[in-house]
Amino acid sequence: AEDGYDLWLRYRPVTDAARLAEYRAAVTQLVVDGDSPTLRAARDELRTGLRGLLGADVPLSASATRDGAVIVGTPASSRTIGALGLGDALRAVGREGYVVRATRVGGRRAIVVAANSDVGALYGAFRFLRQLQTYGTLANLAVASAPKIQLRLLNHWDNLNRSVERGYAGHSLWAWDTLPDASNPRYRDYARANASIGINGAVLTNVNANARILTPEYLAKVAALANVFRPYGVRVYLTARFSAPIEIGGLKTADPLDPAVRAWWKAKIDSIYALIPDFGGFTVKANSEGQPGPQDYHRTHADGANMFAEALAPHGGVVMWRAFVYSNEVPVDRVKQAYTEFKPLDGQFRDNAFVQVKNGPLDFQPREPFSPLFGAMPKTPLMMEFQVTKEYLGQDTHLVYLGQEFEEVLRSDTWAKGKGSTVAKVIDGSLHGYARTGIAGVSNIGDDRNWTGSQFNQANWYAYGRLAWDPEMSASDIADDWLRMTFTNDPSFVRAVKAMMKTSREAVVNYMTPLGLAHIMATGHHYGPGPWVGGPNTRMRADQTPTYFHRADSLGLGFDRTATGSNALEQYAPPIRARWGNQRTVPDSVLLWFHHVGWTERLPATHGRPLWDELVARYNAGVDSVRAMQRTWDAQRGKVDDERFRDVQSFLAIQEKEARWWRDAALTYFQSFSHLPIPARYEQPA
Ligand code: GCU
Repeated sequence: AEDGYDLWLRYRPVTDAARLAEYRAAVTQLVVDGDSPTLRAARDELRTGLRGLLGADVPLSASATRDGAVIVGTPASSRTIGALGLGDALRAVGREGYVVRATRVGGRRAIVVAANSDVGALYGAFRFLRQLQTYGTLANLAVASAPKIQLRLLNHWDNLNRSVERGYAGHSLWAWDTLPDASNPRYRDYARANASIGINGAVLTNVNANARILTPEYLAKVAALANVFRPYGVRVYLTARFSAPIEIGGLKTADPLDPAVRAWWKAKIDSIYALIPDFGGFTVKANSEGQPGPQDYHRTHADGANMFAEALAPHGGVVMWRAFVYSNEVPVDRVKQAYTEFKPLDGQFRDNAFVQVKNGPLDFQPREPFSPLFGAMPKTPLMMEFQVTKEYLGQDTHLVYLGQEFEEVLRSDTWAKGKGSTVAKVIDGSLHGYARTGIAGVSNIGDDRNWTGSQFNQANWYAYGRLAWDPEMSASDIADDWLRMTFTNDPSFVRAVKAMMKTSREAVVNYMTPLGLAHIMATGHHYGPGPWVGGPNTRMRADQTPTYFHRADSLGLGFDRTATGSNALEQYAPPIRARWGNQRTVPDSVLLWFHHVGWTERLPATHGRPLWDELVARYNAGVDSVRAMQRTWDAQRGKVDDERFRDVQSFLAIQEKEARWWRDAALTYFQSFSHLPIPARYEQPA
C-alpha cells in the first residue's frame, strides 16, 4: 500500500523506457569490496534499490567481469578502487564525502562509488541511487560531494513515556519499554533514511530533559539503538538535565564548579562511553523556561557548558549548549535575551562546546529575521537550530515546505564581516574559521506509518538533511529531487507541485502572521489563532498580555524595536540597522517586527497602501494561495497513487478552512483596534 512508509526511498520501477534501457546497460553487476557493517548496508541498499528501479536483481560479483559493474568501496577496502588513481579527487572530499564516476576498469565500462571511509561509500551509494530515482543520465557521470557541516543532527524532543513534545506524528519511535531486548525494523529504516540525506547524529531525548535517561537501565537501551544506527553513520546523543547529580546522583548541589558535581558528571560520562564508544555528546537546555542551570548557582552558561565539555573531551564528545533562553521574569523585549546573555561569553567556551542558536531570536515563527547571534560570536562555534516539526506552522495538517524558510535564513546576510557574511557561512565555519561546525533540526518524526504525520512533512525532513549537507543548496532543487523520488518523475507533476511547494511557505506567513507579525497563536498548543491571547487572565506571563507581541492599539500595529522602542535592532550589524530601522527602507517581511505603524500609514513596505488595507490584502492572499494549492493538487489526480493523493487532498481542505479561520480571527480582532472597514474588494470574514 502507498501509505508513505517508504519515504523518498521507494525505488519504484523506472517508467521512462529510454532511461530504463540506459540503466540496464550501465548497471549489470555489483562489486562491493569489503565487509564492514557499513559496506554491507551500502550493498543491501543498492541491491534493494536497483532491484526495484530496474525490475530485476543485479548480481553481486567479486570483481568487474563485464561492462556495467558498479564498484563500491574505499581505497582501503578495495584494490580496484585503490588502483583507479582517484587520490586527488578523494582527498578533496574528506572523511565523509564521495566520488561517483563513470569510468573504465580493466577496459570495461564501470561506475565507481568511492570514498575515504565506509560511511562515505554509503552516502555515495545513496547518491548513485538518487541519480536513477530522478531519471538522471549515467553517461559521463562525475559527481563529487562533501558535507560542508560536520555535525548534521536531528533533535528529538521525545519523552521517556513516548510522548513527543511538539510532535504531530504519533508517539516516539523509541520504545523504551521493550528496549534493549526487542528491536524494531523501524530503527534501521530510520537510520537508512537519515543516511540517505547525510544526517549523522540523533539527539534521542527532549531538551526538557529527564535525568532517568542517564541511569544504567536507560543507557543500556540507548546503547541498543546506537548499535542499530552505527552502520548508517548515525551517532547517538542525549540531552543532559542539569540537576541530574541531585536527582539521580544523590548530591546536594548541581553547581558546575563544585568538585563533587564535576566528578559525578565525569564518572557518568565515562560510563556512557564504556557502553557506547562513539557516543556523540549532550544537548543542554539550561535556565530557560524553568529548566535548571548554572545560573541557579550564580555561574554562567560557559561555566555550565565547560563542565560537560571537559568531561566529554577525552572521549571526543561535544556539548551543544542552547541559546534559547526564556527567563521566567519577562523582559521588556523577549527577543533580546539570547544575544544579551551569550554575546558577552564569546571566547569563554571550551573548544568542544557549541552554542546552539535557533534560526530566529524568538521561537520558530512562520517568519522571523535571523538571530542576531549569527555573526556576533566569532570565537564560539554556533550551531543552527531549525525546527523541522511545524509547531507554529500548522503542525501535521498544513502543507508548508520549510525548504524555503531554511534557505531564507541561511542566505540572510549578517554583515558581520561586510557584505556576503551569510548565516550559511557562519555555520559552515568559513566566516570565522570555526574548527567545529554543526546544525540541528528539531525532528518531525514519530511512529505514524508515514513517519511525519503528513506526506508533505516528509519533504521537510528531507530538505533539512540536504541543506545540512550543503547549506548553500537551492530549496527548489531539493524539492525537485524529493518529488521525483517520493511521487513521480512525470514532468508536468514535478513542475506544478514544485511551484506549489515553493509558494506554501509564503502562504502560511500571509494567513497567519503577515508583514512581520509574530506569536499571535493560541497559547499552549500553538495551533490556530490567538492574537487576543491571555485576555484578562491574571496568571498569564507578562509576555502573554494580549498585545505583548503585536502591540496593536488605536494608533497602529507592530512592535517598535528601533531606538525609539526596545532597540532590539541594535543587536544587528550597522548596515542592517540602517535598512531595517528606517520605515522607508525596511522590507515588508519584517515591517511589523521592527516598527509600530499607523493604521492608515502608506509605506513602501505596504506597497503604498494604507497599512490596514495591506494587512487585509495579505490575509486574503494567504487564503487564495491555499485555494490555488488545492487546484494544483486536484489536477494531479491519476498521476500519483490514489491513497496519497486523497491524503494530501483532505489535508489541503483542512488547511483552506483554517486559513480562513486565521484570517477572519486576526482581522476581526485587529479591527477592534483599527475601527476600519474591510475594503469591499476583499473577501469579508465569514
Ligand atoms: C518552544 C516550545 C517548547 C520547547 C522550547 C525549546 O518554546 O514551545 O515546547 O521546549 O521551544 O525550544 O526549548
